[in-house]
Amino acid sequence: MELLRVENVFKSYYLNKQEIQAVKGISFSIEAGDIIVIVGSSGSGKSTLLTLLGGLLKPSRGKVLYKQQSLYTLSNGRLSIIRNQVFGFVFQFHYLISELTARENVMLPARIARKKINETVKRAEELLEQVGMKDRMNHKPGELSGGEQQRVAVCRALMNQPEVIFADEPTGNLDIKTAEGVHDVLWNLCQKTGTSLVVVTHYEPLTQRADHVLTLNEGMVIKKRSLN
Ligand SMILES: Nc1ncnc2c1ncn2[C@@H]1O[C@H](COP(=O)(O)OP(=O)(O)OP(=O)(O)O)[C@@H](O)[C@H]1O
Ligand SMILES: [Mg+2]
Repeated sequence: MELLRVENVFKSYYLNKQEIQAVKGISFSIEAGDIIVIVGSSGSGKSTLLTLLGGLLKPSRGKVLYKQQSLYTLSNGRLSIIRNQVFGFVFQFHYLISELTARENVMLPARIARKKINETVKRAEELLEQVGMKDRMNHKPGELSGGEQQRVAVCRALMNQPEVIFADEPTGNLDIKTAEGVHDVLWNLCQKTGTSLVVVTHYEPLTQRADHVLTLNEGMVIKKRSLN
């Protein structure tokens, strides 16, 4: 089943009246359960593409379709619901709330969606347990290591059982060993739950296992490799 499709999307930024074309005519589709890796040099448009896909940034031209609905023609309310309940996000920096514990941070998307508290607590704890954070649930982000913080961010992204997770260099500021752990957790949880994953990463094992690898250069897809 086709989950997402981008059709000839372009995105320009304007700085001092100068146009910067970050994405220039990209098209592809994502099937439910697909793992897609995006690679490319710095400035090639990877983060821009991910934010366009995730309903966070309107393209200058072209369409982003979620189950055949054009994302950016939906009302703001409807789009927020999709971002909260259908999409999950993991960024290079965790963006956890420093005053909240790991468990409370993971619960946040479900609280926003007004889900039942008992079930929310249970699911948050189960997720944290699955990523080896059972003993760290009551820690605040400042009391966790970088890898632990990212594992909490992964759990938070999965809290509302999204259909797709967008991850932008989720291990960009971690050492290789710690990065492996976070990638494994992300990969395993997505595989297990059939969640699609669109991830910007240079982590080789993930690139090898991905269904599709898109290589960007100057805002365009210059190479597409598929497993099948
Ligand atoms: N908010 C912005 N305003 C103006 N230009 C921007 C903005 N964000 C990105 N750009 C420019 O758009 C181009 C693509 O940026 P983008 O962040 O998508 O690249 P990237 O592939 O994610 O790079 P990196 O690997 O360094 O994260 C770059 O030339 C960048 O300078
Ligand atoms: Mg980037």
